[in-house]
Amino acid sequence: MTHPGGEFTLGGDLEVGRLGFGAMRITGEGVWGEPEDPASARALLRRVVEAGVNLIDTADSYGPQVSETLIAEALHPYPEDLVIATKGGFERPGPGRWAAACRPQRLKRCCEDSLRRLRLDRIDLYQLHTVDPQVPIEDSVGALAELQAEGKIRHIGVSNVSGEQLERARTIAAVVSVQNRFNLTGRGSEEVLGVCERDGLGFLPWYPLAVGKLARSGGPVDDVARTHDAAPGQVALAWLLQRSPVTLPIPGTSSIAHFEENLEAGELELSEEEIRALEAQ
Ligand SMILES: NC(=O)c1ccc[n+]([C@@H]2O[C@H](COP(=O)([O-])OP(=O)(O)OC[C@H]3O[C@@H](n4cnc5c(N)ncnc54)[C@H](OP(=O)(O)O)[C@@H]3O)[C@@H](O)[C@H]2O)c1
Repeated sequence: MTHPGGEFTLGGDLEVGRLGFGAMRITGEGVWGEPEDPASARALLRRVVEAGVNLIDTADSYGPQVSETLIAEALHPYPEDLVIATKGGFERPGPGRWAAACRPQRLKRCCEDSLRRLRLDRIDLYQLHTVDPQVPIEDSVGALAELQAEGKIRHIGVSNVSGEQLERARTIAAVVSVQNRFNLTGRGSEEVLGVCERDGLGFLPWYPLAVGKLARSGGPVDDVARTHDAAPGQVALAWLLQRSPVTLPIPGTSSIAHFEENLEAGELELSEEEIRALEAQ
């Protein structure tokens, strides 16, 4: 099957469409509690899969628990090719608040809870959500490697890592993906992206739309968007897809209309000149 934005193979055996879906926005305000309309959130998830997207990014901390629970309610039993990429490593003291918590025993418990909530025997991609300053990354990734050996995780990913932390993680386990903040106006992770490209790791840029700023007119993508008769957010996503063959953008939305619009970015081809102009701003 062809997917919007083309395909990428994670860890040598898991094919995903490169344009994924970020399921953080289907929770309440501050990524806390139930969304205003859970039935609409479930309808959106069903539309995501129906439209051919087969990479959904989530985390136990989104809600907490709400995003994973909605995914299971809306989509289980899952289509065979659906890859649910979840994460563990954040505690949620309250709305908008995040605290790193990556002790090995806790991560193992969180993974078991995600398996139960998602109604899965094995999680295709389990990502260490962050690096806990109190816990060496080797210990956190070591816990994920043990879960992998027990058959509970298929592939291991990391998130919010520096180049050095990624290197250390890779001494412990085969890491197949990195999820870092990256978009047209925030390119702090160029070096890590370069490592992913060199070694064939997937790179999931979070905040691909700069929390929606790049989807609004009046920003740096307007001129190019006008040329293509496209929405600004489509240009921002097309830029990410063309930036490297390993990028797997996961735009987040609570709206079916926005989802449909974002999906069309997979068809948009930017010229070299347009890419240079976008990057020069
Ligand atoms: N690893 C990490 O630490 C980390 C951190 C943050 C996020 N993430 C992941 O990355 C995903 C993406 O990040 P994100 O959702 O925070 O940010 P984002 O994708 O950059 O932007 C999402 C925001 O943009 C708006 N939006 C989306 N499509 C739009 C469109 N076509 N037109 C106008 N507005 C649009 C959404 O509002 P509407 O709901 O109104 O569409 C939402 O407010 C998350 O869902 C999550 O899976 C990971």
